[in-house]
Amino acid sequence: MLLRIMQFPTKRIRKHLDGYPHGPITLHTEDDFKFMAKIGRIAAETLDFIAPHVRPGISTAELDRMIHKFMTEQGTVPATVGYHGYQHASCISVNHVAVHGIPSATKIIKNGDIINIDVTPRLDGPDHWHGDTSRMYMVGDKIPIKARRLIEATEKSLAAGITAAQPGNLLGDIGIACGQVAKDYGYSIATDFCGHGIGLTFHDNPEVIHVEPEDMGPTLLPGMIFTIEPILNIGGHEVKTLADGWTTVTRDRKLSAQAEHTVGITEDGLVIFTESGRAN
Ligand code: MF3
Ligand code: CO
Ligand code: CO
Repeated sequence: MLLRIMQFPTKRIRKHLDGYPHGPITLHTEDDFKFMAKIGRIAAETLDFIAPHVRPGISTAELDRMIHKFMTEQGTVPATVGYHGYQHASCISVNHVAVHGIPSATKIIKNGDIINIDVTPRLDGPDHWHGDTSRMYMVGDKIPIKARRLIEATEKSLAAGITAAQPGNLLGDIGIACGQVAKDYGYSIATDFCGHGIGLTFHDNPEVIHVEPEDMGPTLLPGMIFTIEPILNIGGHEVKTLADGWTTVTRDRKLSAQAEHTVGITEDGLVIFTESGRAN
């Protein structure tokens, strides 16, 4: 009986745990997973493409312009453009900016900076599937040891969360795994932000918490698709959003880092849709 529920649905269903806790979780089909593999690969390739351009002296607006052009050439649309009024193809968060940094012509990155680039291309046309991923980049050759260590912890936190995302585990197991890595390093997790279901919708159920949650949530089932995107801070977990409505900085202005993948639960494990084909 348990085995039955561990099978992919043959038809996409949007009723699993109807209403839990903010609405149903969609269970996708194997065909849906094929679309996700396609858009996920383009999302990863976008981050690969921009890597050699992340150099001292370039503005974040210029990086965003190149990202937008690349996405368009791949037959995709940046899902962030027009999203609640956001106007850019990427979020570029430098140093103490934890998330949602707005690309700007006056923000010139310099040797020693660490930056997160977050992209969400969407397939153009009726099959408008989303791929959401972000990565840390080191600018130049003068990266402080503490910044390197923060990036290492962030990547390990994401990897631990991914390892915990297995069919039969609970959603909360992901948070426990992500949070444990941060704790081991002595860092905090910015708990105001979470991962999310994704697919035909950019931000969907469930919410994916990156620390041990109060409620462990539902069992992970084949067909679930969501992001894992822990934000780690060297200092406190508190962040604040600036007057522009997006840029979110650490309250203590200490360094912050984030990494994100879009994953899907299968019958016997998971797929990372946004895995890079090459070392960065
Ligand atoms: N890609 C972000 C995420 O991981 C969302 C960015 S929304 C934007 O969920 F409008 F700020 F671009
Ligand atoms: Co996301
Ligand atoms: Co993202």
